[in-house]
Amino acid sequence: MQPASAVVGLIVVAAGSGSRLGADVPKAFVPLAGVPLLGHALRGALACPDVAEVVVVSPTGWLGEADAVCRWARSRSCEPSSGAPVRVVPGGAERGDSVAAGLAALSDRVGVVLVHDAARCLTPASVFGRVVAAIRGGAAAVVPGVPVVDTIKQVDSAGRVVATPERSSLRAVQTPQGFRRDVLERAHAESSEATDDAGLVERLGESVLVVEGDPRALKVTTPADLEAAARILAG
Ligand code: C5P
Repeated sequence: MQPASAVVGLIVVAAGSGSRLGADVPKAFVPLAGVPLLGHALRGALACPDVAEVVVVSPTGWLGEADAVCRWARSRSCEPSSGAPVRVVPGGAERGDSVAAGLAALSDRVGVVLVHDAARCLTPASVFGRVVAAIRGGAAAVVPGVPVVDTIKQVDSAGRVVATPERSSLRAVQTPQGFRRDVLERAHAESSEATDDAGLVERLGESVLVVEGDPRALKVTTPADLEAAARILAG
């Protein structure tokens, strides 16, 4: 199947516990302005008209709640993608296991896969659009990224600096990350141990293209991130 015409499937990984947030519910169900993070994430994703199918990977034991959030998000979107079929499946112990569960649940018609962290709940639809456009343009793997503002040091196990990469060449990468389905499946067949899916694809020797990300696509990890997200939403 050619990426230019391939059907786009979206995996939203939402099965993390979010222990660093210190909430009494899994992170995807923590409210932001009264709406669970997963609800915000789905609203952004469903506002991208390219998305034809969605799989939400939920914590085991929260499948019913995840399903209710999906129905709410679809009812709040009037984009064509709001009519996309949405399935909820249970996740795994590590993020990579959850992505693999999502991949297994996509229908055969999907040829382009977007993998999105529910924790990046305010990612605008424009970022989804840029990633899809780059895949349709022929890239095998695409990640959104933003320039880093801090100087980054690489350190050894004793905390000694071993390198200072040139800042202008660094990008902080976000999600959704987009892939030709065959490439992502090959990468996951090799290993699922990486902090992002592009890392697995890089190990295959495939090139990964960075497109412009968005500061609003921040990952909610700590209470301070949740406050930052609330400010973005209010502003
Ligand atoms: O833990 P972290 O914030 O890095 O997780 C990134 C995303 O991966 C979150 O949306 C989280 O819900 C998801 N995740 C998952 N399954 C896991 C661990 C994390 O779906 N076992």
